[in-house]
Amino acid sequence: SLLAAVASSVPEIPSTQFINYTQMFEDISHSGDGGIYGELLVNRAFQGSGATIGSLPGVPGGSVVSSENPIVPFGPVITGWKPIGDVFIHLTQLHPLSDALPIVLQLDIPFNATGEVGILNEGWWGIDVRPQTYDASFYCLSNGPRNNGSLSGINVSLRSNLTGETWVTSKIPTTNVSSFQYEHFETQLVNQAMAQDSNNTFAITFDASEVAGNTYYFGLTSLFGETYKDTRIRKDLGETIVDLGSRFFRFPGGNNLEGYSIEQRWKWNETIGPLINRKGRVGDWGYYNTNGLGLMEFLDFCEAGSLQPILGVYAGFSLDIFGQEGTSFPEDQMNLILEDILNEIEFITGDTSTTWGAKRAEYGHPEPYELNFIELGNEDWFSSTYPYRFPILYQGIKHVYPNLTLISTAFDENDDYNISIPAGGLWDKHDYQTPSFFLENFDFYDNWQETTDNEGVKIFIGESSVFQYDTPSGVVNYSNPIGIHIPYPNLISALGESVYLLGAERNPTVVDFIAYAPSFANLNWENWTPNLVSFTANWNETVKSSSYYMEQLFAHFHGAETLPVRTVSGNFNPLWWAASVDDGDTAMYFKVVNTGNSSIPLTINTDRALTAANGTMITAPSLSSFNYINNQTVVAPSPITNLPSPSGQAFNWDVPAWSINVLQFSLG
Ligand code: AHR
Repeated sequence: SLLAAVASSVPEIPSTQFINYTQMFEDISHSGDGGIYGELLVNRAFQGSGATIGSLPGVPGGSVVSSENPIVPFGPVITGWKPIGDVFIHLTQLHPLSDALPIVLQLDIPFNATGEVGILNEGWWGIDVRPQTYDASFYCLSNGPRNNGSLSGINVSLRSNLTGETWVTSKIPTTNVSSFQYEHFETQLVNQAMAQDSNNTFAITFDASEVAGNTYYFGLTSLFGETYKDTRIRKDLGETIVDLGSRFFRFPGGNNLEGYSIEQRWKWNETIGPLINRKGRVGDWGYYNTNGLGLMEFLDFCEAGSLQPILGVYAGFSLDIFGQEGTSFPEDQMNLILEDILNEIEFITGDTSTTWGAKRAEYGHPEPYELNFIELGNEDWFSSTYPYRFPILYQGIKHVYPNLTLISTAFDENDDYNISIPAGGLWDKHDYQTPSFFLENFDFYDNWQETTDNEGVKIFIGESSVFQYDTPSGVVNYSNPIGIHIPYPNLISALGESVYLLGAERNPTVVDFIAYAPSFANLNWENWTPNLVSFTANWNETVKSSSYYMEQLFAHFHGAETLPVRTVSGNFNPLWWAASVDDGDTAMYFKVVNTGNSSIPLTINTDRALTAANGTMITAPSLSSFNYINNQTVVAPSPITNLPSPSGQAFNWDVPAWSINVLQFSLG
């Protein structure tokens, strides 16, 4: 049997800390547009991209952009829109809606049209229709012989694409659509119906007897269902982020921050203000980003969900789509990047007497947002120019904002790269690895050595996941995620990651934050597998993975203080554990993972009486079990029903094979 006098082989951990479970978010796999951003209409403003929906040559259901899969054309397309009735639709620039959104949809209604005429939108591979209130809006301009006084109204509805059944309609009462300037029409759809699936559409229609012969122009259409606490984030997906127990939220990338050229980067100041002024950008993951999910949308969500933002800022480096080293801002122009970052910080935190703070107030948030963490770039170990970019930005930001914690995305682990992070900073470490890697690195943070390059620097495990099964060579193949890699996190994933997390939990003075990545994928467009949460338009099809449930269990059940090692009899592997106690020493949490294929006896001896025990376990019928639509909780936590009672200061239990457990003891 194994005698565990509460955790590990490291020296005493002088800690009253616990690591922070965090979420990493970027718009990948349509996790932003078509994902957490609550806009239900696809291609709502005809901004760009042929890659938004349906199958595209060379991009079967989405793929990583590479020389084999070059970016598809990003010109404006009519994707997702269809005519209703005997009418013609096409895109035009004849009547631009705004400088940012010059393309509009033209609807021509012939003189001989009869019945219902209009346009419909197919949504992001469908629209979820359930009892709730939807906010619909669009800009419209008209010309034609019958514009004045002939209308009884414009109908807006949600309907089944399969049966044509209308779920809900609202008639916007207007007798006229201006032919001089765009009017913004808004209405609410108070829906009572529960559609059986998400194969639904959104329609804007007229009665042909009132409009035959007319032409209408539509721009910036929109439909929002319920959102997370009145933010712009889709309600159920926002809840999965917060319910994991996340306390921090990193955004907006990831590669998607950097762009595939300097021009194409995520420009924060093009993601703020009225939507009509947001032209969007070509994202890094093969589709156009509307920029509806902008800086304030992220920050509002953080506020609503009590999450601290970890803001990634562009640090003067953009990727290259064909795998060569990307483009860097030259050293003598880095002041421009610094200025841009300082403006961004002022926009977020400045009071209303500052230029950018006043702009934020104008856009609806007079109070400054909370901001304590800034990440400089993303994965800058890919770039040879970080050694000049990082110090310029670090010093420039610290000069104005000394209290901000700055995170480096390239760490000079082997002292070969001339990057030194000043004390108080953080290093963002990414691990997309095999199950074995995570087991072998259980003690990585135990053995963490401070060097002159990392003295006083803690670690943000900013992106990590069991990404690929073990291979004979042990080598991880990063070149083609689809096919080679684990498609959906399974029991092996959760086991491997949980062991690594225990290693991190045992070392809260070394590791500050931990996040899985990527966090979300629309199942209709997966750039990358595996993902923490997958979803479709249909809220019932949101799937929390085994990794999600494991992290949720670990994030929710922990004490305030990680317990130090005293004596251990037996070795880690296949049993792994860590422990913590509550403030006030009333409860002890003992996390124990068995990665072996048979049960293992565990004995815990403590110097306090254990008065009661209960526990939660994650296991599954097979190591490759995973959660999927219609089978969403195959790998999910359940209470341990037959847990023995502790006896005095000891507790004995056979830890089942392939199981992840959190035991909770009351302390006498
Ligand atoms: O999570 C997917 C990608 O992995 C991120 O964009 C990047 O930071 C990492 O390479």
